[in-house]
Amino acid sequence: MPQAKFLGHSCVAITDGKHNLIIDPYITGNPQAPVKAEEIKANFVLVSHGHGDHIGDAVAIAKRNNATIIGSFELTTLCAKQGCNVHPMHIGGGHDFDFGRVKLTIAHHGGGYGDDASVYTGPPVGFLITIGGKVVYHPGDTGLFYDMKLIGEMNDIALAFLPIGDNFTMGIDDAVRAVEYLRTKKVVPMHFDTFDVIKTDPDEFANKVSGAEVMILKPGETIDF
Ligand code: NI
Ligand code: MN
Repeated sequence: MPQAKFLGHSCVAITDGKHNLIIDPYITGNPQAPVKAEEIKANFVLVSHGHGDHIGDAVAIAKRNNATIIGSFELTTLCAKQGCNVHPMHIGGGHDFDFGRVKLTIAHHGGGYGDDASVYTGPPVGFLITIGGKVVYHPGDTGLFYDMKLIGEMNDIALAFLPIGDNFTMGIDDAVRAVEYLRTKKVVPMHFDTFDVIKTDPDEFANKVSGAEVMILKPGETIDF
């Protein structure tokens, strides 16, 4: 049974016991991070977009572990220039890896990298990951979009991580609608409380969701899916 460990903000580590994936490893500088970037073991590093709170420690983790960065063509090109192994992909495309499959989905958000966000790193993406026979959806940073209904119809999603912090992404009410569209069995709220502007109450999200099991994970907590 695959496991997902929430590492704060939008950072999630997924393992099937053999392969280790980490998504959006914003660890250094993340006040919620329960680990140090130097402790992360990963074979694959998935990065949804170039904002610092997502690309985070990706390059350092990938180099130290000799891991492969998976993301958009533009973002992986930037990581390759910094000496990383990469697997470029793009929205709508899927690829079979040794652990399973990754498909990139749309996300409605920005894609700038660097202190002034001036380096174009492509459109932001989300990830549909099949591992251990289960599908997990990590949408990156996004607003609600109606194609989530299509994603839910076409995939038997066991677990979804959804941003609920508002301001930069979906807030609670839109995330509740996303759960309905995605028909996920389990959902974990993310991208909240890290900064003042995205402080919110995950219990309100839990109370409003019906039809899925809401797991409010503290950074460092793990669930099976
Ligand atoms: Ni962002
Ligand atoms: Mn973000």
